[in-house]
Amino acid sequence: MSSGQRCNITVLISGGGTNLQALIDAARSPVNPYRVAHVISDKPEAYGLTRAKDAGIDTTVVARHKGEDRSVFDARLADAVDTTGADLVILAGFMRIIGGRLVSDYAGRMLNIHPALLPLYKGLHTHQRCLDAGDLVHGTTVHFVTAELDDGPSVLQAELDVQVDDTVDSLNTRVQALEHQIYPMAARWFAEGRLQLDGAVVRLDGVALKRPVRVTADSLVA
Ligand code: GRF
Repeated sequence: MSSGQRCNITVLISGGGTNLQALIDAARSPVNPYRVAHVISDKPEAYGLTRAKDAGIDTTVVARHKGEDRSVFDARLADAVDTTGADLVILAGFMRIIGGRLVSDYAGRMLNIHPALLPLYKGLHTHQRCLDAGDLVHGTTVHFVTAELDDGPSVLQAELDVQVDDTVDSLNTRVQALEHQIYPMAARWFAEGRLQLDGAVVRLDGVALKRPVRVTADSLVA
């Protein structure tokens, strides 16, 4: 990315794409330092593809063929991402474990958002697991992607207080509302050159983070 140019983001999705929409909406501002340049889905029916097309963004479907070896799919996906010329790759509800060349080639240039306060609750069913544990606090995490699932260095977290009457659905709604604010924020930091991965250390404005930046639901409702 040369100076003065907007950072090109390629977003990988599998589903509804509300986080994709938040990134697209944020990028509409002329002062925003990134543009969503391309959307790739492994599901041809993903509604996020419609969101992308409505916004005039190029799309590609890379579906896994029946019986296709995972390494072959990973290679096709990496080729597709390369073709988009991405400065930053954003996983937004991409429901596949990413592996192979894509992870190594885009190390430090690939972010994911996970609906839990990592390192708590890697994997699926995070809201149910939070309720089962009786947690008082829950949230979401933006992290760099590594070869381990939901395990890369965390950048930014948003937390909320769990209410006594919260359900999986209500937590999902409330957590997603936080995601729609913090994912564009983290993307902006990266695009501005403020956010870097230095080995396993996350740097923001050159300062190594001992823990992810943590914001609260209250502080985000400005
Ligand atoms: C988000 O909640 C995110 O945390 C998880 O997948 C969900 C994607 O939702 N990784 P959407 O497709 O962006 O609406």
